[in-house]
Amino acid sequence: MSDDRDWRPVGRVEDWPAEGARVIELGARRIGVYRHQGRWYALKDICPHAGVGLARGPVQDRQVMCVGHGWRFDLETGDLTEGPKGRNFTVAAYPVRERDGVVEVGL
Ligand code: FES
Repeated sequence: MSDDRDWRPVGRVEDWPAEGARVIELGARRIGVYRHQGRWYALKDICPHAGVGLARGPVQDRQVMCVGHGWRFDLETGDLTEGPKGRNFTVAAYPVRERDGVVEVGL
């Protein structure tokens, strides 16, 4: 199957805790790469509310909570799951894969 994404290596699997996030930079992009319940996720690391780094927040049930004001975002889609009603705040989500012990983010 062809894949025209631009996959960028961002570290080795062992660089991450079993549960947790690291912030990486790819060009001008600042991205939080999360390891959660055996899966990988990546979200732009800027809260759309007031710019706080999302990866600083706790992760639970595949959602990260912003430490700024408590909004929550789905790690898979970047959708706002808890926050102001009727507002469509979404953060960019990126695919992540693991290859030969290397974590890669697709742009
Ligand atoms: S800065 Fe993230 S909820 Fe306010």
